[in-house]
Amino acid sequence: MLLIMRINEDTLLEGGNVVLVPYNADHVPRYHQWMCSPELQKLTASEPLTLEQEYDMQRDWREDDDKCTFIILDKQKWADPSIPEQECMVGDVNIFLTDPSDPSLAELEIMIAVPCYRGKGLGKEVTRMMMCYGIHKLGIRKFEVKIGLDNKISIAMFKKFHFRELSVSEVFQEVTLGVTVNEALQKHVFGNMDFMLQREYGKARDSRQATFTPLSL
Ligand SMILES: CC(C)(COP(=O)(O)OP(=O)(O)OC[C@H]1O[C@@H](n2cnc3c(N)ncnc32)[C@H](O)[C@@H]1OP(=O)(O)O)[C@@H](O)C(=O)NCCC(=O)NCCS
Repeated sequence: MLLIMRINEDTLLEGGNVVLVPYNADHVPRYHQWMCSPELQKLTASEPLTLEQEYDMQRDWREDDDKCTFIILDKQKWADPSIPEQECMVGDVNIFLTDPSDPSLAELEIMIAVPCYRGKGLGKEVTRMMMCYGIHKLGIRKFEVKIGLDNKISIAMFKKFHFRELSVSEVFQEVTLGVTVNEALQKHVFGNMDFMLQREYGKARDSRQATFTPLSL
């Protein structure tokens, strides 16, 4: 399991408009700044943390053997090496295993933290990338998401990926949606991973200007 979920330690996934990179300590100050926003705390059901706690959390996530976290970067900005990586950050996405007896079941979380990047198709692009990565690299077959009942945008987005309502918690005011990846869904929605590139993060970061031509999705 350890090997399975730390598989992304040096993985970069390049899509059409975004680049996904493993969450590391350099990203923490910006991440912390985002999570001070009461709006994001509410939308993601998160508690406010101090900067120090955020560093601890990043270390825990990195070492956690059942969690796989990527930071979402603006691909166009990131292609310019004069822009610090922190300034290219737009959100995060992660997959974690929730049932020790079933490694094919994962919960998914996504956040486009920077408001001006929302509503432009990035959420859909990243969700598809992450689900494809989960299916093809981690062997995930069932995905679940927990969403605040009034987060209509997120609910609508996941329904586009064939998620259906599994349960509603009145206590937590959230709905759990889920999808099982059967053959038809894999073929028609997720296909293979050809629409994104997988590269080594360390090397790609050291030569950021290389090979960045827009991909059509
Ligand atoms: C929810 C979230 C991930 C969606 O990502 P996004 O980049 O804003 O969404 P996209 O532009 O990819 O749109 C995806 C779908 O969401 C819905 N949507 C997006 N913006 C919308 C809006 N303003 N009004 C209604 N529906 C909207 C649509 O169904 C859209 O699909 P379509 O374009 O094919 O119609 C993003 O808005 C976000 O991170 N918000 C804050 C944190 C959060 O709510 N996270 C989810 C917690 S579970």
